[in-house]
Amino acid sequence: MKSVRWLIAAWRGRRRLAVFLVVFSILNALLAVSYPIFMRAVIDAIKNKAGMEVVSRNVLILLCIGVANFFVYASMQGTRAWTNLVFERDFRQRIFEHLIRLGRGFFQRFRTGDIVTRLTDDLGTDMKLSWFACSGIFRTIEALCMIVFGLIAMVRLNPVLTLYAAGPLPILVIIFMWTASAVEARYERLQKRISDVNAHMESCFSGIRVVKAYRREGGQQQGFHDVMTRRKTAEIDAVKVGTIIQAMYGYIWQFGVVIVLLVGGKMVMEGKLTIGTLAAFDAYVMMLVFPMYDIGTFFVRGKSAGVSIRRLTDMEDVQPEITEMDQETCGRPCVPPAGLRNSLRFENVSLCFVPGGQRVLDNVSFEVRPGEIVALVGRVASGKSSVVNMIPRLIDPTDGRICLDGVPTKELCLENFRKLVGYVPQEALLFSDTIENNIRFHRDWIAREDIEQAAEVSRLVEEVESFPNGFQTKIGQRGVTISGGQKQRIALARALCGKPRILILDDCTASLDSQTETALWEGLKKVFPSCATIVISHRPATLERANLILVLERGKIVERGTHQELVRQKGVYHTLYELGKLQDEVGVGWKE
Ligand SMILES: Nc1ncnc2c1ncn2[C@@H]1O[C@H](COP(=O)(O)OP(=O)(O)OP(=O)(O)O)[C@@H](O)[C@H]1O
Ligand SMILES: [Mg+2]
Repeated sequence: MKSVRWLIAAWRGRRRLAVFLVVFSILNALLAVSYPIFMRAVIDAIKNKAGMEVVSRNVLILLCIGVANFFVYASMQGTRAWTNLVFERDFRQRIFEHLIRLGRGFFQRFRTGDIVTRLTDDLGTDMKLSWFACSGIFRTIEALCMIVFGLIAMVRLNPVLTLYAAGPLPILVIIFMWTASAVEARYERLQKRISDVNAHMESCFSGIRVVKAYRREGGQQQGFHDVMTRRKTAEIDAVKVGTIIQAMYGYIWQFGVVIVLLVGGKMVMEGKLTIGTLAAFDAYVMMLVFPMYDIGTFFVRGKSAGVSIRRLTDMEDVQPEITEMDQETCGRPCVPPAGLRNSLRFENVSLCFVPGGQRVLDNVSFEVRPGEIVALVGRVASGKSSVVNMIPRLIDPTDGRICLDGVPTKELCLENFRKLVGYVPQEALLFSDTIENNIRFHRDWIAREDIEQAAEVSRLVEEVESFPNGFQTKIGQRGVTISGGQKQRIALARALCGKPRILILDDCTASLDSQTETALWEGLKKVFPSCATIVISHRPATLERANLILVLERGKIVERGTHQELVRQKGVYHTLYELGKLQDEVGVGWKE
């Protein structure tokens, strides 16, 4: 039922198109059904030697019907093919727009390869969902019109012979009853296997450097061979059942031809039927073979379309975790943030990823003011990234709140609020595009000078100028042709060119040398003096500059203060700082 509602929704707003296709299906069937009537007249006229005038008149009519039928069929078929493509684009666009709004939870649940399969293969026009949504439905309507009009014409010619001809019909109904669930199960399995293949390719190619470093090409080949073999088996299974059912619908109906020839031939010999009527009857039964085949196709493809709709609605039903408050939920319209005037405050913030599970953050409170630097330090998995990810609302706190100038960020207009935040994630991600486009990142309002300034502060300009096409140099997928440090600085420039009021740096200074790091902080202070910075770092040069340092352990702030204060305490921070210094000297990470 859900699948039917989904398909009806697809036709909402396309009523005229649907009416056109129905009218042309009826017209096409009427023209096709009228053909044997005039053929019968020609044969009987020849048999009765009624004269060439009668024969030629009927042949001319047949010719006109043929030409008219061609135009009607061509327009109907062309419109169906066009609509399939429009559906394919619209469905993909709609679902893509939905998916892009979803949070991290969704992308952890669904593998990328699976999402891609659902958006491409399930939604295709090659006998898949987009084909079914138009051609599948309207070919069946065309087939039903042919069958109904054909049977009416046959009954009018000879009701008894019609009964004989329609003998295989009950067999077809029984076949459908038996096979419906088998078809559905096989198509469901097939789509899952296709998802597995795409997921395997996605993970192999996106992690190609690790595969090569560990020389696991053989393992990947074997894995690919396995998923492809499983896909092939599922495909053969589904195609076998589908083809048998479709063919049975066509061929079993052809028994009708044999019956008509036997029973009708006898009637002709007994003088109860003219030879022209028998020929017309035979033509009708033959004419209905393809519509019968189409009905079989409808059953098979309808089942596979139902599977695909279910796979798509699984994704469409997921709601974004981060939502903008509307007037109803927060009692007033969401506030357009004016900037950062006083502070960004964490007020007793706690976080659980799993409802009722262990707290990843526990009662975290601090504030950062314009121009200040707050540094977060702590061991692996202590919750540092989780704290900063909550600022641009990539995750929302389970308890407590985060306020910008006293207003909870949940009540702020999300798009405008995010424009205030510059975010450099722990793992810099670049796209296969030019360096400039990677920095601008689809924000057309950012001026070229701002990009240059951001690149200057990120200590990127000299290196970029040494590239063959400067800022227009294309970088490979995920930036494979540039170094880790360059990658991080491009990500930094991306954050800075939006002139952020709140800057988040998640361990992004790790692969910078001390000199570049110091120059970066000097540049930031000069160009963005009123920017509030929250930085995760273990580098002494960064920590010494911070106005406030927070030490996290298992999600709790265990120490807080300035560098001098914390060093004097000789607690966790002191140990981490000493290790950081050691790392700077010998180049070994204390975190490991
Ligand atoms: N999306 C998630 N779902 C469930 N648990 C998560 C998720 N993200 C992080 N965690 C868990 O939360 C804890 C804190 O992770 P977080 O990434 O904040 O640590 P971190 O201090 O940034 O570590 P690192 O220094 O390695 O970057 C970890 O135990 C991690 O397993
Ligand atoms: Mg982290």
